Amino acid sequence: MEILTTPEEMRAWRRAHPVSLGLTPTMGYLHEGHLSLVRRSLAENEASAASIFVNPTQFGPNEDLDRYPRDEEGDLRQLRELGVNAVYLPAVEAVYPEGYQTYVTVEGVSQGLEGGSRPVHFRGVATVVTKLLNAVQPDRAYFGRKDGQQLRVIRRLVRDLDLPVEIVAGDTVREADGLAMSSRNAYLTPEQRAAAVVLSRALRRAESQFADGVRNAESLRSGVRAMVGAEPLAELDYVSVADSETLAEIEGEVAGVAMVSLAVRFGAVRLIDNVTLGEDA
Ligand code: PAF
Repeated sequence: MEILTTPEEMRAWRRAHPVSLGLTPTMGYLHEGHLSLVRRSLAENEASAASIFVNPTQFGPNEDLDRYPRDEEGDLRQLRELGVNAVYLPAVEAVYPEGYQTYVTVEGVSQGLEGGSRPVHFRGVATVVTKLLNAVQPDRAYFGRKDGQQLRVIRRLVRDLDLPVEIVAGDTVREADGLAMSSRNAYLTPEQRAAAVVLSRALRRAESQFADGVRNAESLRSGVRAMVGAEPLAELDYVSVADSETLAEIEGEVAGVAMVSLAVRFGAVRLIDNVTLGEDA
């Protein structure tokens, strides 16, 4: 497994490996959610790369950039064991050298939900994903459905800028009790960890209401609100029932495919999760 630390090195590796290539972009501290994407990339491509880069531009000034969990050695070991061919592991200065001033903004689909609560987040994600795709030049790039809005922002970005890459979505991987895997779960105290199951339970309530024929978006939202409200350690940031493609909030009846998503705080820890109603996104 080769480790490349600059865009130039990464592109040279790519030129020397003219085969179908899958990329799994990550911010490290790998868990089964990431590894399932890497396995899929390995199965679907002749070669596979992963990137590890904690991207400062997608964190707001009061967010968790400084304490974001890191385990470079453990990450590299796991990627090596899986059989990944190359890891792109740039330093911040290699991605954003002095004088850096270019950003990629995806409009409509970035607004609201995470974009409403985290104003600079998707500008940072769109910028770094564009740069990672330019450096690695994969045929396919793998992202998890857990970050549902991110997935839609990246699909829009790739379509709008004619980027020559297929975006592949991997299903959310969950702990035994239903909590979606996330590097941020590591911040939770044991009490908060037990309470955090409320996200997936609330989403399951929306799914079962929908299966029972409930189509009114506000009824689905209030079911989620009530369940999160009953958990004393949880503070709901938002709940959304939105059109699955545009992420425009649905008022009235759910007619097509909808994404139900929520963000919940447990003290300083903020977790997100989502499900799709109707058919698969
Ligand atoms: O989902 C993530 O880990 C990050 O947002 C990504 C896509 C690697 C960009 O930094």
